[in-house]
Amino acid sequence: MKAMADSSFKSRPTIFDEFSLKGRVGLVTGGNRGLGLEMALVLCEAGAKAVYCLDLPTDPSGEWKATREHIRRMENGSRLEYISIDVTNQQEVWKVGTEIGNKERRMDVCIAAAGILKAEKDSLHYPADEFQEVMAVNTNGVLYTAQAAGQQMTRFGNKGSIILIASMSGSLTNRDMAWVSYNTSKSAVLQMARSMACELASKDIRVNSLSPGHIYTKMTAAYLDTQPGLLEKWSDLNPMGRIGRPDELRGVIAWLASDASSFCTGSDIVVNGGHHSW
Ligand SMILES: NC(=O)c1ccc[n+]([C@@H]2O[C@H](COP(=O)([O-])OP(=O)(O)OC[C@H]3O[C@@H](n4cnc5c(N)ncnc54)[C@H](O)[C@@H]3O)[C@@H](O)[C@H]2O)c1
Repeated sequence: MKAMADSSFKSRPTIFDEFSLKGRVGLVTGGNRGLGLEMALVLCEAGAKAVYCLDLPTDPSGEWKATREHIRRMENGSRLEYISIDVTNQQEVWKVGTEIGNKERRMDVCIAAAGILKAEKDSLHYPADEFQEVMAVNTNGVLYTAQAAGQQMTRFGNKGSIILIASMSGSLTNRDMAWVSYNTSKSAVLQMARSMACELASKDIRVNSLSPGHIYTKMTAAYLDTQPGLLEKWSDLNPMGRIGRPDELRGVIAWLASDASSFCTGSDIVVNGGHHSW
């Protein structure tokens, strides 16, 4: 309207402003490598002032250190931090959330990406301890992470976005892969996101899940690098005829984490090269 009324008015695009995370704080579990680290980088590129990567190793990986240096050289006021933690320990995860809150005085974005995938095992004889181990990280750990971040979002009263990393394996079964524990754990994450989204909407905290398809990381390399022909087989399972790269989740993370997705909650976003369409 202004452009019509005032001939001197200079229009400018604002769409990318909606993706800005300038001054915001993020927490990413599984952030030492793989998809979690790629996602942490996205938050920093979008301008977050601090992004905390939480993962198991006492010291972060070379890949993490290189990413931190890359971020430092962007000189956009963003910094990457690392905290060693086991996400299956609820009290510890909450404590770390509180410590980040004490330091940064806000919490805006949470990405629960820590996860494990074990060797294939026959579902009829799947061992109880291993089933519990997978559920403890992939389901319970995701809940504890979302709780820790959500508690801080509520404490500081700033709205927030919580992204639970599920998998297409929560909605479909990967053909010929005996992954009953993993698939079950990811289905639970889908319902966790919907359930938390409904509870937290009144606090302006959005909760969504992201379901990637096959992507080459250390998790899938354990299969792909040891089983000849598996890459071709998995590639053939989607219409695009290939598996994905971690960087192909950058756009969706930038969208979900930011105000660009402000009316999106309780949704599962599927990024899998069309695997589910066949
Ligand atoms: N790679 C894929 O094809 C794919 C597809 C769909 C979903 N996902 C999911 O994406 C997420 C990231 O996977 P990825 O492919 O990057 O795998 P990855 O193995 O490279 O990364 C997983 C990270 O989680 C950390 N982690 C595991 N247990 C932990 C614990 N108890 N406490 C803290 N950290 C822990 C690991 O140390 C590791 O850094 C996982 O939840 C995975 O299930 C991956």
